[in-house]
Amino acid sequence: ELIWQKSKCGSPFSAKYMPMKKHENILVFGNPAAVYNPQMTVGEPYKRKWTPNKINNMKIAVIQGPNLNMLAVREQHIYGGVTLEQIHAQLQNAADQNGVEIEFFQSNFEGEIVDRIQECLGTVDGIMINPAAYSHTSIAIRDALAAVNMPVVEVHISNIYKREEYRQKSITAGSSTGVITGFGGFGYHLGLISLIQMLNELKALNDARNAQIQAQTQEENK
Ligand code: DQA
Repeated sequence: ELIWQKSKCGSPFSAKYMPMKKHENILVFGNPAAVYNPQMTVGEPYKRKWTPNKINNMKIAVIQGPNLNMLAVREQHIYGGVTLEQIHAQLQNAADQNGVEIEFFQSNFEGEIVDRIQECLGTVDGIMINPAAYSHTSIAIRDALAAVNMPVVEVHISNIYKREEYRQKSITAGSSTGVITGFGGFGYHLGLISLIQMLNELKALNDARNAQIQAQTQEENK
């Protein structure tokens, strides 16, 4: 009995769709994004190989948009006094502890961010992105994220819903699995944990589905 088979209708938040199930030591919460999008499976469609060099065997790209290189200098009352380097060092630490690979990228140019997202196809398993001001303007970044079709967490340091009206809509968020906003630099830590959980769930569901297909094929060939 597989969770992803129960995904036909109903609220993703109803108890029925939030079964906490242990699958090969991964607590599967029936993450709606995994349940509703069975196509978005780890290792497919771009067939990234799962190599056993890291415990969790996954790679995450962190992409930072314009002016985030100015953290701890720019508007400290909004973005705090922690530098981007410090945030990345903390993320590297957390990634090491969880046995996942992580790489960092920052650009002030929209096209470079689009290029970096495209490069993620077949090379990483999930993306954590703060598109910064481009969140509110960039259809190109939204489309790039949709094109690579993998788990994406959008992070904002400030709570964009508490700010100017033009910041209250994120165009790019529509291509993300989920959004974390308003927790300061700690939001990146939350984002990392969410991505690892999400990727583990997808892998568990993918493995379970493959095992079921294999069992069915064996049955048919009897
Ligand atoms: C931001 C919010 C954006 O509105 C702003 O343009 C940024 C940072 C945040 O992290 O809170 O540069 O994305």
